[in-house]
Amino acid sequence: MYGIDTDRPTDAAGAVDLRSDTLTRPTAGMRRAMAEAEVGDDVYREDPTVNALEERVAELFGHEAALFVPSGTMGNQIGLRLVCEPGQEVLGDADCHVLTYEMGAAAALFGLSSRTVVSPGGRLSADQFIAQVRPHGDWHLTPTAAIAVENTHNRGGGLVQPLAELQELFQWSRGAGVNVHLDGARVFNAHVASGVPLSTYGRLADTASVCLSKGLGAPAGSVLVANADRIAAGRLWRKRLGGGMRQVGVLAAAMQYALDHHLERLAEDHEHARLLAERLGVDPETVETNMVVVQGVPAPAVAAAAKAQGVLVGQVSADRIRLVTHLDVDRAGIDRAAKVITEVLRDLR
Ligand SMILES: Cc1ncc(COP(=O)(O)O)c(C=O)c1O
Repeated sequence: MYGIDTDRPTDAAGAVDLRSDTLTRPTAGMRRAMAEAEVGDDVYREDPTVNALEERVAELFGHEAALFVPSGTMGNQIGLRLVCEPGQEVLGDADCHVLTYEMGAAAALFGLSSRTVVSPGGRLSADQFIAQVRPHGDWHLTPTAAIAVENTHNRGGGLVQPLAELQELFQWSRGAGVNVHLDGARVFNAHVASGVPLSTYGRLADTASVCLSKGLGAPAGSVLVANADRIAAGRLWRKRLGGGMRQVGVLAAAMQYALDHHLERLAEDHEHARLLAERLGVDPETVETNMVVVQGVPAPAVAAAAKAQGVLVGQVSADRIRLVTHLDVDRAGIDRAAKVITEVLRDLR
C-alpha cells in the first residue's frame, strides 16, 4: 500500500523552494486519483471518498469519528470550540500556531479567552502547563477548559514533543476536567521521526486536527478527530463557518493518495534536513524532522541573495531563516541549496 512516489513535477522556474512544506504541488499520480475520484454531495454526507477518508483517519488516530475540513486552521478552531465554551480559556505555549497565526480566531469567532506559557523552543512541559491551569467554579478566575499542544512544533523548528510529557499531561487532564487539543498539522512527521504510532498520539488528545496538505503533499485538506458527539457538533460548526463543501471527494482522493504514497517517504525529508544542517554548520541535534533553523544571520539579506540564485528560504525573524524540506525537493535540490546558502552566508559575514 505504501510506496515512494517518484512521479513528482519539477518546478517550472527551476527554483529550490524551502520556504514551507505547504508549497508542494500534487504529483501526476495524485492528480489522476483526484480526476478518478467517486464523488457526491458531502453536505448530504453522500461523498463516498470523503466518508472513507474520515473513517480511515478516525481509525488511524484511535478516535470514534472524524470530519473533513478544508484547512488546518478550521480544524484547530473547531477543535478548540468543541472543548472550550465562550468565556472559558485555552492555554497554549506562546509560539503555538493556534494562538500565533490563526488571526485571533478563537476570540474573534467563538469568544474563547486564551493565555500562554513560554515553553523554550516550543518543547512541552506538562508540569509547566499544569501549574498554570485555573480551576472551574471560582468566581474570580477565568476557568481553563483546554490545553493546546502542537506536534511537531512549527516555530520550534519541527520539534517532536516528548511522549512522556504528552502522556503526563493527558493523564493529569482526566482528573482535572481539562481537555487537550492537538494541533497535529505535522503529526505525521512526528510519527515517522519517533516511531510512536499515530493512534498513540491521537489517544492523548480529546480533539486533534491533522493536515494532509503539509509534508504529505495534498493540495488542501485536514481532518479533525474526536468522539462521535463532538464530531457531530463539529459538523454544525463547519457548516456555520462555510466549510460545508459539496463534491469534495476530489480533495479527499488526494488525501487518500497522500496517505498511501507519501507517509513513509517523510523519512527522506528528515534525512534531507539533517544533511542540510550538517552542510550549513547547524547542530544536527536541533533537527528532528523536516525543518532547519539557521540563527544569527541577517534574514532579509540572506533570503534576497539566495533567491537571486534560485533558492527560496523562509524568514522566521530578522535574524533567523528556516528551511523546510518536502516532496518537491530532491537530493539534487538539497545539494544545490546547501551550496548556494553556504556561499551567501560566507559572503555576508
Ligand atoms: C502547526 C500548524 N498548525 C496549523 C496550520 C494551519 O494550517 P492551514 O494553513 O491549512 O490552515 C499550520 C500551517 O502551516 C501549521 O504550521
